[in-house]
Amino acid sequence: MAQLPTFDMLLFGGTGDLVTRKLLPALYRRHAAGQVSEESRVFGIGRKSLTRGEYFALVQSACREFLGKEFDAARWEAFGRLLQYVRVDASNGADYAALTDLLAGREQIVRIFFFSTASNLFADISQNLAGAGVVTPLSRVVLEKPLGNDVASADLINQQVGAIFAETRIYRIDHYLGKEAVQNLMALRFGNALFEPLWRRGLIRHVQITVAEELGVERRGQFYDTTGALRDMVQNHLLQLLCIMAMEPPASSDPDAVRDEKLKVLRALRPLRDRDVLTKTVRGQYKAGAVRGVPVPGYLEEADIAAHSTTETFVALKAEIDTWRWAGVPFYLRTGKRLQDRLTELVVTFDEVPHPIFEKPPTTQAANLLVIRLQPDESITLTILAKNPGEGMRLKPVDLALDLGETFKTRSLDAYERLLMDTVKGNLTLFMRRDELDAAWRWIDPIRAGWDQYDERPKAYVAGSWGPAASSALIGRDGYAWHDEL
Ligand code: BG6
Repeated sequence: MAQLPTFDMLLFGGTGDLVTRKLLPALYRRHAAGQVSEESRVFGIGRKSLTRGEYFALVQSACREFLGKEFDAARWEAFGRLLQYVRVDASNGADYAALTDLLAGREQIVRIFFFSTASNLFADISQNLAGAGVVTPLSRVVLEKPLGNDVASADLINQQVGAIFAETRIYRIDHYLGKEAVQNLMALRFGNALFEPLWRRGLIRHVQITVAEELGVERRGQFYDTTGALRDMVQNHLLQLLCIMAMEPPASSDPDAVRDEKLKVLRALRPLRDRDVLTKTVRGQYKAGAVRGVPVPGYLEEADIAAHSTTETFVALKAEIDTWRWAGVPFYLRTGKRLQDRLTELVVTFDEVPHPIFEKPPTTQAANLLVIRLQPDESITLTILAKNPGEGMRLKPVDLALDLGETFKTRSLDAYERLLMDTVKGNLTLFMRRDELDAAWRWIDPIRAGWDQYDERPKAYVAGSWGPAASSALIGRDGYAWHDEL
């Protein structure tokens, strides 16, 4: 891979989980791959008073844990030479003078401000950076999700950040868009003519999108308890996956061509209003159970969770897209923490034959499926009906299976490696535009409002299960079942 232009990257929230466990390991890998020039610099920025040595030790242990066998002491030393720590209280303008000094004379170099803090600090940081005179024409800002917690707060933050940075300089991250597997979904849909004629109502019955996690809320109780699965996962990752599944073929792979098409999907989502939330959504919260045989506490017993919290850790819902292509084709979305498996999977169920001439197999629902698995391994499986060997014409589901890891035998880039490199290269395709974010919140907000209006509290599910029984009932009412239930 070609070397990147020299850059200065400033990571706000420099002692937080995202920086230490994802961003720095991603930069380390790109540096180890020879892509990062030795003149580039990376600044961890945080409120704590830390010496460079203390910061270095802190991030080293996180990176070592995250990178496992890939961690190499000599390479880490070399990468560490690019790394500095700067103490800045994000809301205190005077602290930013330290940055003015550090960045002086480097105005011609790509400058990236990565805001990995709570989004209510984004406006302050932007204004203080401008006040310190460090926002140059070559500066870009990366905003981590969730941006705001409803349409109004997101709009305000976008306005305030937008007063300092032009829209073409703003990189709103949804790290799912950086996953190799998600890019492969684009390749599958738009690199092959085969699927396009099938990709519509009349041939597709329904689509399922599952993002299941085994993890609980980890060390993020405080953040999670005020966020919940709808805002943490559905508003961004699941809706982005839905967009890529459902969008029209863009005219090119230019950032705006792709984002225009995704936006049309978001705007065509049928609003879930009032009582719809009772029949088309399910909220869940995990109670104590066991994941892979290991006992785990319930959500309410986790650190930093309010005693009677009604935050959801699971959401299932039925989405409908009001377009010619998708009228009448339900998209079932499901995500949760402490589920049975770590699994991200898209399942397209095609129609059955209109008139069966063979004996009907007992499990027709398990055939006519295209299963695109994004995590933990990447595969594409088409399940079709084939003749069961032997006498008679009995059909049986069989898999045409492609394991992408096996096929390419190479490690895929981690999502953050790709996305960070894109910010350096100035490629906006995999980042959300302001109007996309706005459209996503506009669809999400009424769901929350409906839950409040009808006092729809989360239903308990046992950690290590597939979520509350109501989730199976939601899809079951339409005569279907989740893929793992077939
Ligand atoms: C993050 C959420 O955006 O995505 C986390 O805030 C979640 O709660 C994570 O665990 C899942 O990402 P991945 O890449 O592990 O599937």
